[in-house]
Amino acid sequence: MYSFQFLFRASPATLLLVLCLQLGISKAQEDIRKVMIMDLQVPQTAKANEAFPVTLKIQTDLKECMVVRAYLASNVSMTGASQFKQTSCLCDDYPRKFFWEFQSNDTAKIAGVVDIVREKGICPENLAVVPIQANHFYTIHTVTVEP
Ligand SMILES: *[C@@H]1O[C@H](CO)[C@@H](O)[C@H](O)[C@H]1NC(C)=O
Ligand SMILES: *[C@@H]1O[C@H](CO)[C@@H](O)[C@H](O)[C@H]1NC(C)=O
Repeated sequence: MYSFQFLFRASPATLLLVLCLQLGISKAQEDIRKVMIMDLQVPQTAKANEAFPVTLKIQTDLKECMVVRAYLASNVSMTGASQFKQTSCLCDDYPRKFFWEFQSNDTAKIAGVVDIVREKGICPENLAVVPIQANHFYTIHTVTVEP
């Protein structure tokens, strides 16, 4: 850090340089791009044994496309349509939306899970990347099931 003493003695040109450097730093921090932005929509409450919709919207800040596999996980047993895994191509200008039907007789934790996978024939010309930093993402909601 620069001391106050330094700032008082510095010439206007130096001060301008310091200011520019600081702006440069904060700009770089804003530039951290998110690999996966998730929005899981689950009703707050549901009736026992009645199907309700679960929606997962995902988007990315990465410039490159990725092959994503989206699915649900839960602490209650899942049946039928809630078990489907859906594979798709996610690009920065093309957010994706997945739907499932979920059904439970008990209050359930539901996780929307996205794996970034290496699968051919999903993205146009297979132009897709797998981030090495992280390729497994999830977000969890609870639905209260009333009898
Ligand atoms: C919920 O309970 C009903 C009636 O007992 C049963 O038929 C049904 O299979 C149950 N559903 C689940 C998802 O466990
Ligand atoms: C699942 O999680 C919910 C919310 O924490 C809890 O109320 C419920 O008892 C759990 N069910 C099972 C089968 O563990």
